[in-house]
Amino acid sequence: MSDLYEKYFKKPSIKEARKRKSTSTETIHIETPVNLKAIGHGKRYKLMTYGCQGNEADSETMRGIIERLGFTSTDSEVDADIIILNTCAIRENAENRIFGELGRLKQYKRTNPDLILGVAGCMPQEEQVVERLLKSYPYVDLIFGTHNIHKLPEYLESALYNKERVVEVFSDEGQIVENLPKIRDHKHKAYVNIMYGCDEFCTYCVVPYTRGKERSRDPRHIIDEVHELVKAGYQEVTLLGQNVNSYGRDFTDKTYTFANLLEALNNIDIARVRFTTSHPKDFDEATVKVLAKGGNLMPHIHLPVQSGSDKVLKKMNRKYTKESYLKLVNTIYKYIPDASITTDIIVGFPTEEKEDFEQTLDLVRQSKFEGAFTFIFSAREGTPAAKYKDDTEMQTKKSRLQTLNQIINDGYLRGNKRFEGKVVHVLVDGVSRNNPEILAGYSEHNKLVNFKGNQTLIGNIVPVYIEEAKTWFLKGRYHEST
Ligand code: 5AD
Ligand code: SF4
Repeated sequence: MSDLYEKYFKKPSIKEARKRKSTSTETIHIETPVNLKAIGHGKRYKLMTYGCQGNEADSETMRGIIERLGFTSTDSEVDADIIILNTCAIRENAENRIFGELGRLKQYKRTNPDLILGVAGCMPQEEQVVERLLKSYPYVDLIFGTHNIHKLPEYLESALYNKERVVEVFSDEGQIVENLPKIRDHKHKAYVNIMYGCDEFCTYCVVPYTRGKERSRDPRHIIDEVHELVKAGYQEVTLLGQNVNSYGRDFTDKTYTFANLLEALNNIDIARVRFTTSHPKDFDEATVKVLAKGGNLMPHIHLPVQSGSDKVLKKMNRKYTKESYLKLVNTIYKYIPDASITTDIIVGFPTEEKEDFEQTLDLVRQSKFEGAFTFIFSAREGTPAAKYKDDTEMQTKKSRLQTLNQIINDGYLRGNKRFEGKVVHVLVDGVSRNNPEILAGYSEHNKLVNFKGNQTLIGNIVPVYIEEAKTWFLKGRYHEST
């Protein structure tokens, strides 16, 4: 849109994003301004979400706001008046995919010059991305980051009706915004943010810059949200935070920890509570002991280790050792013998040598992981590790990843095998992607289960007898006698 001129113009700054204020976090309660309520009447939007559960949760809020303005959702780019990409910056290939998608979407601006194209989420939090968007993607009308979703009504009005290009990205915002509307993706399971941001600064990671300082939500707001979800018929909540184990560390007016929060939720009538993601250095025994109470606290723990080499862990600024990680894993197995532990691992981090990688393999074997997300290191501009000398060939990194994945896949199968001949309880999500006659859902241990059953079971937690374990899922039959 050549006649667009810039109204807001606030670009992100890595320097600003690095700042961590010692002041307590301000919580604001927002209402959608009444005079904007109808701006989307008769108009359609398409929202595309990339990346982690944090982004999925943000997209649910964006949908809530956009639909309250009167827009209706569409899957078709041709029909859309607005297309927004909620982006991910965690690795270079995630970003490349999104730039590619923007290139593809350009054609719809030609056929519909009034189409508003927006880029939101983590990528706009990076200085160099905004520069590139402004320079090479002039047809992008709307750029905003992770801290200003609540200002969407203003941005959409400016872009749609005043034909103004909107670029607004805050770098060091420390607010928590409560009360925003949400349209959730699922009817039976829900994400609940317990905190935002991250203060860990692992040297490879862009998240502390894109998501800002760590801010914990007030436990009352979290508990109220879970009560509301129960009332609305939800069976499962997944608590979200970059390091849930440091929940409450930023409270200045009270002492309240993640273990306290789990204990409170353990007494609420929601069938299942999950959480992600954990940081090994802050996962304390008190939390393990609360989890051991069971009940609605599910026995699956995602515990990213990243590497098994002390040298590499130090370079990554992870603040634990192979030995202390294994000690934590053993504590978890001691209190929760049937726990399922999964992890994240980065191979090919700068300075990782053969011996370091072997330490990782040894840790993987000892930890008895039942699954993992594995990645090759990706240098992110502005992070310390991007400047580390990295002289390992890509081919070596790829072959390390392959070796690792073989062991990880054995762990998936071993983790599934232990349920053969047993009855598990499955929250039924819907029909299987490959076969509409088969139902699919997840067990207590977060294992994907496929079984034959009536579609009326969708949304319920049902007993399923496991007949066969495959690497990626369990095959079972509905266990009617229970
Ligand atoms: N390169 C590769 N993997 C990364 N992760 C985070 N940053 C990077 C990076 N720069 C991985 C970590 C983290 C997961 C969400 O993504 O393993 O736990
Ligand atoms: Fe990134 Fe480390 Fe924070 Fe996780 S804990 S989001 S890896 S900086």
